[in-house]
Amino acid sequence: MADPDTNNPSAEPAYWTLIPAAGVGRRMGSDRPKQFLTLGSRTILSHTLSIFLEHPRIRGVVLVLGPDVDPDALDLPTAGGRLFRVAGGAERADSVQNGLDFLQERAAPDDWVLVHDAARPCLPRADLDHLLNALRDDPVGGLLATPSTDTVKWSDQDGRVERTLERARVWRALTPQMFRLGMLREANRAAREAGHPVTDEASAIEWHGARPRLIEGSMMNIKITRAEDLELAQLYLMQQGRLDGGFRP
Ligand code: CTP
Ligand code: MG
Repeated sequence: MADPDTNNPSAEPAYWTLIPAAGVGRRMGSDRPKQFLTLGSRTILSHTLSIFLEHPRIRGVVLVLGPDVDPDALDLPTAGGRLFRVAGGAERADSVQNGLDFLQERAAPDDWVLVHDAARPCLPRADLDHLLNALRDDPVGGLLATPSTDTVKWSDQDGRVERTLERARVWRALTPQMFRLGMLREANRAAREAGHPVTDEASAIEWHGARPRLIEGSMMNIKITRAEDLELAQLYLMQQGRLDGGFRP
């Protein structure tokens, strides 16, 4: 029997989330990968997962973990069968590819995939909703980003300014980055195979020849990278009323 939703543009598309969490956190320099550090009473990873697991429009979450991690020892939020675990790879793009390969078996090529760093627990719910709504019918997809508040310089090989970029057109790329499963999987695979550096999903899609849309998001959505970022992340979680267990400087 024909699917009644076929060719119906108002039908809600399926949204999946992929969380790369297989990094070692070298720049943080802590005793464990940064996503397992605690903010309030929960790990950074747990805070991040909750944003998506509590969202009614997210069908499932693929969590990509490093090889030495015992998933049963993690404090993960209740998932109701919507959380799937996959093993990571050497680089972030390898971890993402493993997650996409997993989704390939369960999702349709036109389903949306939102790739979001485990190290970004402060993503505001309003930004996630805005991204889902703004890109819903977009032919390419896109990413959350913030306009640069600084003037940005392009350097030559000797560390001298070659030129000044036009500030109004400079953006800082955040996550989630939201693309169709089929296009993202193919773009990521081809870019990696060609040796093109893939630091985020948009760079693979750009290399593939498409232009991701920039959706303005909050500067609160920081990627926790170094020790000094932890206090700022605590503050943002507290401001959003999401820091159970109180503020511990
Ligand atoms: N990541 C991953 N697999 C890798 C490397 C990174 O899944 N091989 C994930 C990280 O866990 C993180 C996200 O990608 O959630 C963004 O990467 P980054 O902030 O660079 O984290 P790390 O690579 O862990 O940190 P560092 O670069 O300081 O070592
Ligand atoms: Mg890294």
